[in-house]
Order: sequence, then C-alpha cells, then structure tokens
Amino acid sequence: REQVVTIPVVVHVVHHTPEQNIGQEQIDSQIEVLNRDFRKANPDAAKVPDVWRDLVADARLEFALARTDPEGRATSGVVRRETPNTHFGPDEAVKFSAKGGSDAWPSDRYLNLWVCELKDYLGYAQFPGGPAETDGVVIQHRAFGATGTAAKPYDLGRTATHEIGHWLNLRHIWGDDGDGCSGTDFVDDTPNQSGYNGGTPTFPKVSCDNAPNGDMFMNYMDYVVDAAMYMFTKGQVERMDAALAGPRRSFLP
Ligand code: ARG
Ligand code: ZN
Ligand code: CA
Repeated sequence: REQVVTIPVVVHVVHHTPEQNIGQEQIDSQIEVLNRDFRKANPDAAKVPDVWRDLVADARLEFALARTDPEGRATSGVVRRETPNTHFGPDEAVKFSAKGGSDAWPSDRYLNLWVCELKDYLGYAQFPGGPAETDGVVIQHRAFGATGTAAKPYDLGRTATHEIGHWLNLRHIWGDDGDGCSGTDFVDDTPNQSGYNGGTPTFPKVSCDNAPNGDMFMNYMDYVVDAAMYMFTKGQVERMDAALAGPRRSFLP
C-alpha cells in the first residue's frame, strides 16, 4: 500500500466521576501519539538496537477524530456519557448504553475507542472479524494519552498503540504460549520469544533460541512499560495491511 490511510476515530468518554471525564487535551494527546507511532515518527524509535534498525516500519496509518457522525452531522468525534457504573471490566458493558456504556458507532467506518474506569486492565481490543457492536478498543483513562489523568508508567499513550495493533490483527510478540517457545505471532521478522517482558528490560535479553540479539522487547506488542516500547516491524505492518485489505477494507479509500 502506497498511500497513507486515515482512520476516523470516535472516543467514547464514559464517566462516573469528574476525574474520569477526561479533557479534550488528553484526547488530543492520544491522537498525536498514534500519529507518531503508526508513522514511525516517534523520536524514541532512535533507541532501537542497530541489529533491528532496518526492520522498523512505518504503518502509513493516521488517526483523526471523526468530523461527521453516523447520521452525517458535524461532530467533535468525542461522545461523553455519564454512567451509574463505578467501573467496568472486560465484559463489554462499556460498549452498550443499556449497560451504562456508550453504543458503538458503525465499526466499518469508525474506530471506536472507549475510555473509562477499567478495572484490572490497561485496555482490551477486538480482533478483526468480530461483532460490529463490540468492535474497537477499551482503555483505562489513566493509561490513555500523555497528559491529564495519564499516570506513570503508562502515560505515553502506548496502550492505545498496542490495542490498535490487536484491532489490526497483531498478536502478542511472545506468541501467547505462556513461557513456551512454540507459540507464534505469525510474523516472520520478530524473534521467537518465551514469555512476555514487563518493566524496562536491558538489551540483549535472550530467551528460547533467539541469541545473540534476544527478545525484541521494545516492540509495541510486548508488555513493557510505555517508555520501553517504540517499534512495529515490517512483518507486523504487512499483517496490519492484510487486515486492511481484508476484514477492515472498508477503511481504505
Ligand atoms: N494488557 C494490555 C493488552 O494485552 C495492554 C498492555 C499495554 N502496555 C503498555 N505498555 N501500555 O492488550
Ligand atoms: Zn495485548
Ligand atoms: Ca513464546
């Protein structure tokens, strides 16, 4: 794919307390992070070890708050809903107004981002091919954007980068096999890796059979803290492109 594709985004801010009703600045900061990370324009990409420098890829995707709502009216791309629910879990309630959430906008035209008090998770995403009513990404407001309520060490907007990776069919880089060496992320240029990495690892971190370079823990699809993740690979971008050419083709011009 040659051209850069812009994904229209609707942010559903589902709040029970004033703190959870995050400000526009925090929303804008998240969109800015996405527009750096998915264009290889994030300055920390310079930290990628030399051995992987050539693999760092520009996904050629941009994100913009929607300017037209599903009925064709002008919109800010932000929906604010007060909720009686003190918090949400991974049970999808936040995606339904009847359950105290906010209904999805048509998921073939919008990327739905729900921001709320999410218990026990930073975020979760739906892979391509699932039901439209639940399609999109949910993010804990303290892990959303890079200002406002965003709190260390998840205050650089990378939870959304990671979750949108899933929304575009990327798997976790360690292959979701616990600490095994047989799981795969179905991407050829990411090293085979045992389990997930957390915190801020030091290069090289060897597992399975991946010496001397070890795990590509600085990949957005590992579990390290926000400041420690800063790349997608060419193979991952091919996989995202396949999702955009396939189940998510309605986003192509
Ligand atoms: N636990 C979440 C998931 O598996 C997201 C992890 C995001 N990591 C981060 N550094 N923000 O989808
Ligand atoms: Zn994940
Ligand atoms: Ca593994």
